[in-house]
Amino acid sequence: MADELAGKVAIVTGGASGLGAGLARRFAAEGAKVLIGDVDGDSGKALAAEIGSDALFVEADVSELGQVSGLVSTAVERFGGLHVMVNNAGISGTMHRRFLDDDLADFDKVMRINVRAVMAGTRDAARHMKDHGGGSIINLTSIGGIQAGGGVMTYRASKAAVIQFTKSAAIELAHYEIRVNAIAPGNIRTAIVRKSASGEDLEKLEQFEAKIRQQMRDDRPLKREGTVDDVAEAALYFATDRSRYVTGTVLPVDGGTVAGKVTARKS
Ligand SMILES: NC(=O)c1ccc[n+]([C@@H]2O[C@H](COP(=O)([O-])OP(=O)(O)OC[C@H]3O[C@@H](n4cnc5c(N)ncnc54)[C@H](O)[C@@H]3O)[C@@H](O)[C@H]2O)c1
Repeated sequence: MADELAGKVAIVTGGASGLGAGLARRFAAEGAKVLIGDVDGDSGKALAAEIGSDALFVEADVSELGQVSGLVSTAVERFGGLHVMVNNAGISGTMHRRFLDDDLADFDKVMRINVRAVMAGTRDAARHMKDHGGGSIINLTSIGGIQAGGGVMTYRASKAAVIQFTKSAAIELAHYEIRVNAIAPGNIRTAIVRKSASGEDLEKLEQFEAKIRQQMRDDRPLKREGTVDDVAEAALYFATDRSRYVTGTVLPVDGGTVAGKVTARKS
């Protein structure tokens, strides 16, 4: 399909790399004007240049409330409106093998980016959308917010909070024809773990990641690993009228991982 988002304006936070960049590319290919907000100026500018005049990069740190509202006002000023808000920026926090070793030093940072910025982005976008015919808000959670497990407890807690917030916001904002949904990706290869590493031995982190990846492969019902495009496809569904009667949902894009473990592979 093409031009599914013709005439629409979208914001993608954390859109300079990884899943956000895939979303920004896909939305622009479908005819949307896309504002990319990210702390990573180099990658953000390069992506906006690659997409062309349908994209605008704004350097912004979503952990600052004023910078989130600035993204909304800039989109409205530069592109004439706002129809789709993707609260995608996120960090994983420091990896701890044992929760007992976790000093919780990154708690405030993870929560400000992964939770408060999602709430602020939803609120600020909705303040515009409520007087302009509604819109679609898409929040990035994680299968880590659905499935319990070890390693990154603060991240898991933050992503669980995004799920409860998304459902609650969907109920309240439905009155204004604003739909709010969440996507829960599972283990799609991006730089998120590496980027969030602070002081960890990168070689050990790589080995740890490889081990997790192998475990995921063994457990995942669909054999192939997920891609950025798989997540962009889900976001496109939520951004368009194809999901016009869908709100307050959480869609795992995870090859079936949260559905349950594969007990035995058929040959
Ligand atoms: N990759 C996966 O498998 C996976 C799984 C579950 C959830 N997610 C979620 O998807 C989202 C995107 O993750 P990703 O894998 O593409 O990670 P990524 O690290 O590749 O991209 C995240 C982007 O967010 C930006 N960012 C970080 N802090 C920011 C801040 N304070 N303000 C503005 N931008 C900021 C980064 O610069 C980066 O461009 C995150 O919310 C993540 O938790 C990803």
